[in-house]
Amino acid sequence: MTTYFSEENSVEAVLDRYENASPRLKEVMAVLIPHLHAFIKEAKITMEEWEKGIDFLTRTGRMCDDVRQEFILLSDVLGVSMLVDAINNRKPEGAMETTVLGPFHMVESPEREMGADIALDGKGEPLVVEGRVTDPDGKPVAGATVDVWQANDDGFYDVQQPDLQPHRNLRGLFRCDDEGRFWFRSVLPRFYPIPHDGPVGEHLKAAGRHPNRPAHLHIIAEAPGYDAVVTHIFVEGDPWLESDAVFGVKESLIRRFDAVDDPSQAARFGIANPFRHVSVSIGLAAAAPALHAAANGATRPAA
Ligand code: BEZ
Ligand code: FE
Repeated sequence: MTTYFSEENSVEAVLDRYENASPRLKEVMAVLIPHLHAFIKEAKITMEEWEKGIDFLTRTGRMCDDVRQEFILLSDVLGVSMLVDAINNRKPEGAMETTVLGPFHMVESPEREMGADIALDGKGEPLVVEGRVTDPDGKPVAGATVDVWQANDDGFYDVQQPDLQPHRNLRGLFRCDDEGRFWFRSVLPRFYPIPHDGPVGEHLKAAGRHPNRPAHLHIIAEAPGYDAVVTHIFVEGDPWLESDAVFGVKESLIRRFDAVDDPSQAARFGIANPFRHVSVSIGLAAAAPALHAAANGATRPAA
């Protein structure tokens, strides 16, 4: 006898239709549907609210194109991106913690010479970044690559201002020396708002939330035989560290960007005095054999 859909049996009625689904789809839906239906029931969603929700998702989809990914932004501000990152990147002791990739790693960073200045627009407080890539025991990982990108002094990535900023401004791919070391010149990162002129911005406003991300430098470090680490370093003292719009901050990723006023040091680095200096140690975990390929699929479309 057919059992028709009712409020009481809603979960079973829907899950019955997944009997022939692939094992993973069946497994995921068996968790999703009970939670989704429980949400509707517990929140007592009205018809009007449901329509508003559908309209919100429709507009979120319409906002997406090759350079804007509003759904990922939505995932970011709801903490979902960080949660997916957290459950997929449980790191052993000695490995650097991960955080969100963000939407602006949409172009390849140009390979640059050690010590290169990535701030092609010359705007901002001069910065020297010195770092080292190691294995979890602290041994250098020679030849590791370190891909970095950041917003400019006005708080925009080059891809957001293709007509205003030099091509590949504030991006660089560096190859570590035999000691696992790298260094480059840049400018002090500034905090900036995530794109908030769409439905996600509307939602933040309705919730009384701000769209700001604390100042940070993005890093992807990779080497054969190790899990790639997709992360940031954050500038100590930034006013938005405790309320990052996308929940990306971890205490272990906050670094001091020291103010240095020393003409001889400045001359050694080939940078204007005074300047800022930050050191970063990047611990890589040995690759988990089966998961390695998937974990390295780092690039995602832009928001
Ligand atoms: C970013 O850090 O580039 C970013 C991350 C999430 C959403 C928007 C921007
Ligand atoms: Fe960013």
